[in-house]
Amino acid sequence: MKNQELKTRDLDVLWHPCTQMKDHESLPLIPIRKANGVYLEDFEGNRYIDAISSWWVNMFGHTNKYINDKVKEQLDTLEHVILAGFTHEQVVRLSERLVKLTPNGLAKCFYSDNGSSAVEVALKMSYHAHLNDGKKNKSIFVSLTNSYHGETIGALSVGDVELYKDTYEPLLLQTIQTPVPEDMSLNAAMNAAKEFEELCKEKATEISAIILEPLIQGAGYMHMYHESFLVLVREICNKYDVHLIADEVMVGFGRTGELFACSKAGITPDFIVLSKGLTGGYLPLSVVLTTNDIYAKFYCDYNEHKAFLHSHSYTGNALACAAANATLDIFENENIIEKNRKIAAYMGEKLQKFEGLENVGSIRQTGMVCAVELKGYKSEDRIGLKVYQYGLEHGVLLRPLGHIVYFMPPYVITNAEIDTMMDIAYEAIKALI
Ligand SMILES: Cc1ncc(COP(=O)(O)O)c(C=O)c1O
Repeated sequence: MKNQELKTRDLDVLWHPCTQMKDHESLPLIPIRKANGVYLEDFEGNRYIDAISSWWVNMFGHTNKYINDKVKEQLDTLEHVILAGFTHEQVVRLSERLVKLTPNGLAKCFYSDNGSSAVEVALKMSYHAHLNDGKKNKSIFVSLTNSYHGETIGALSVGDVELYKDTYEPLLLQTIQTPVPEDMSLNAAMNAAKEFEELCKEKATEISAIILEPLIQGAGYMHMYHESFLVLVREICNKYDVHLIADEVMVGFGRTGELFACSKAGITPDFIVLSKGLTGGYLPLSVVLTTNDIYAKFYCDYNEHKAFLHSHSYTGNALACAAANATLDIFENENIIEKNRKIAAYMGEKLQKFEGLENVGSIRQTGMVCAVELKGYKSEDRIGLKVYQYGLEHGVLLRPLGHIVYFMPPYVITNAEIDTMMDIAYEAIKALI
C-alpha cells in the first residue's frame, strides 16, 4: 500500500535524474523503505541486491554499523562550519590521511561536494596555475574519446559521451578529444599515447591539461584500458608542460584492485579528483588533491588575481568528513584491498560463463568491476531497460549502460550474493535471445 502511495505522491512532485519521466507511465518506481548490507528493501518487503552500489558510491554496505555510529557521534558535536577562515578536526584528519594514501607528491586537499564540481575545481586550478606562471595561452583542455566527467558545463565539455553531451554542445567549452586506447592491450595503449604526443607536439603551448578516467571509463560503457597508457601520458605531460588530471571519482577507493588506479600504474598526476566512495556512499563530498608545486603558484602576498577564489557552501562538511574518516578506518582495519582481490577473482570466474551466450560480444574485468558487452542490438531495442526490469523482478538492481551489463557491488558482498547477482543477470541476458 505504502509502495503505491509513495509512487503516486512522488510522480506528482519529483523530476528524477537521468530519466525520461514518461517511462514511468509503464515502468514502476521503486520506493525504498530501508537498506542493509548489499540489500535495498521496499515497503512490501521485496529485497534487491544493489549490484551497482547505488550509482557507484557505496563501499561497505548500506547502513553500515561502524559508519553509522561515527556519523551519529559527529552529529552531536559539529554538523557543519564554513571552511573559509575556519577548520575542524574531521577535515584536518581526513586531509592528512588522503595525503598519505594517494600517490606520492599529492600534498594539498581542496574540498567540494560532488564529482562534477571537483572536476570544475581541477580544470580551473590547472588553467589558473599556468596563468600565475605567466602562461596566458593555455586555455585548451584535452580529454579522451568516450570519456565522462560529470554534468556541469565544464565537466560536460571535457566529456565525450554523445548521449549526455550533444544537446548542450552550443553551451560548452571548446575541448579536444584524443583517442582512448581501443582495448586492454599494451599495443592499444602505445598507439593512443602516440596520438596524444602528436597533439602535444602541435598544440602544447595552448593546452592546460589532459583529464582522464584512469583504467576504466565508467559512463563510457565500462571501457577499460592498460595501465601503461597512464605511464606514457605522464611522460608526455612532463615533456610538454601539460598537467595531468586523474578523475578517480569512479575508480578511486579500491574499485580497480588498488586503493587508487594511479597507484596501480605507479604515477602521480598533478591533480587527483575523488568523490563517490570517499564517504562510503553516505554523504556528498569531493576533493581535489594537488602538489606543493601547484599550490606554490597561488601562494603570495594578497593579489586577487592569484588566489584561488573558488568555493562551495558545503565544502568540507563535517558530517561527510566523519563518514569519510570512518570509511578509511574500515579500509585500514580490515585489509579491504586484499579481501577485494578474492572477491574480484570469484566474480571473474563467474564472468566466464557469459561468454557462452550467443548475444554476448565480449566480457571484461578490472578489479571489482566486471562488464558484459551484448551484441546485435540497436539502441531503440532498449535491451538495457529489459535487463533492468528482469533484474528487479528477480531481486537484483542491475542498471545496464546501453548494451553493457555490468557489476560493481559493495565490497561486503558474499559469494552467495555474487551467485545470485550474476545468475540473474545471466538469465536476463539469455531471456533476450
Ligand atoms: C569519472 C566520473 N567523474 C565525474 C563524475 C561526476 O560525479 P557527480 O555525479 O558526483 O557529479 C562521475 C559520475 O558518475 C564519474 O563517473
